[in-house]
Amino acid sequence: MKRIVLVTGANSGIGLALCERLLTTDSEIHLCLACRNTQRAMAARSALLHSHPEADISLLKVDVGDMNSVLEAAKEIKKRYSRLDYIYLNAGIMPNPQLNLKVFVKGLFSRKVVRMFATGEGLLTQEDHVNANGLQKVFATNVFGHFILIKELEPLLCCPSMTSQLIWTSSSNAHKSAFSLDDYQHSQGIESYSSSKYASDLLSLALNRQFNRRGLYSSVTCPGLVMTNLTYGILPSFFWTLIMPIMFLIRFFTNSFTLTPYNGAEALVWLYKQNPESLDPRAKYHSCTSGLGNNYVNPKKMDLREDTAEAFYKQLLELEHKLRQKVGVAEEAIK
Ligand SMILES: NC(=O)c1ccc[n+]([C@@H]2O[C@H](COP(=O)([O-])OP(=O)(O)OC[C@H]3O[C@@H](n4cnc5c(N)ncnc54)[C@H](OP(=O)(O)O)[C@@H]3O)[C@@H](O)[C@H]2O)c1
Repeated sequence: MKRIVLVTGANSGIGLALCERLLTTDSEIHLCLACRNTQRAMAARSALLHSHPEADISLLKVDVGDMNSVLEAAKEIKKRYSRLDYIYLNAGIMPNPQLNLKVFVKGLFSRKVVRMFATGEGLLTQEDHVNANGLQKVFATNVFGHFILIKELEPLLCCPSMTSQLIWTSSSNAHKSAFSLDDYQHSQGIESYSSSKYASDLLSLALNRQFNRRGLYSSVTCPGLVMTNLTYGILPSFFWTLIMPIMFLIRFFTNSFTLTPYNGAEALVWLYKQNPESLDPRAKYHSCTSGLGNNYVNPKKMDLREDTAEAFYKQLLELEHKLRQKVGVAEEAIK
């Protein structure tokens, strides 16, 4: 029986590299590329078919930052499949990133220089906006849209006598200091990306508590620092190219400079091959690349509290309820 794997944000960067690697790892796979832009999704499918002509790949249009689009996509998935083996919750945004120059310069001349580059702590600020659903855009895309997708697909993920896996592309930039239960959408702060990634770590922990007994397991990964459209939004690609020799050098001191999407996908592919019951729900699985260019996975304990995860999960359920009522009212008005 073919394993059915859905990947959000599959048309570029880490998502696309992951798809490529999964097809190489397992020939018995049906891959569903869940993307917001049909043209980019078709281009990704063509590229994957070029290297794997026999591959079984379908496309699904979904904007994970838009609740209505997620609900439509979930309906379509339920029509197509009776179960899902894996969902990679990979789509993510970091809009209008700004380098905090003060922190950067201070960090450059401190003993924390490697840590600063490895985790980006305090280094990046973002300008967030409210979307059509009245949610903060980064939270809606990186966390809430994926949460709704999982909730909608529960019957396909919790099938008797099988296990399914949720695998999040989180980040080492997920800092507890950026997240607050009182402002979990991060409408007041300037580190919406960090907050959203910490929120996805909390959500993963809560999902394990809720669903493990029904055969659904959730894990989080960090791909390391990877050159993708996301990082090219922070600094232009020519700048990254310019400092590439330095980054290769830094790799001898920190293993988180994975740099290529292929290397960044290491932990995501590794998790595909694991028995989910053997995984630690409190671990973040980091893709690592050594100074000599060898890839490996390093699990690190996350700084998460069970009660915060539960409280956050409850807040997400309440928000879901509120928004569903809104959507229901709007549908009634159209009728
Ligand atoms: N690059 C890094 O160093 C790094 C480090 C830590 C974590 N990450 C995480 O890795 C994940 C993948 O990012 P990447 O680095 O590979 O960057 P990327 O190349 O920009 O990929 C992001 C993917 O997400 C998709 N996406 C964004 N918003 C979406 C939406 N509303 N609905 C559906 N799809 C959407 C993008 O689609 P479009 O092409 O249509 O925009 C794209 O396919 C993200 O979650 C990111 O936070 C990256």
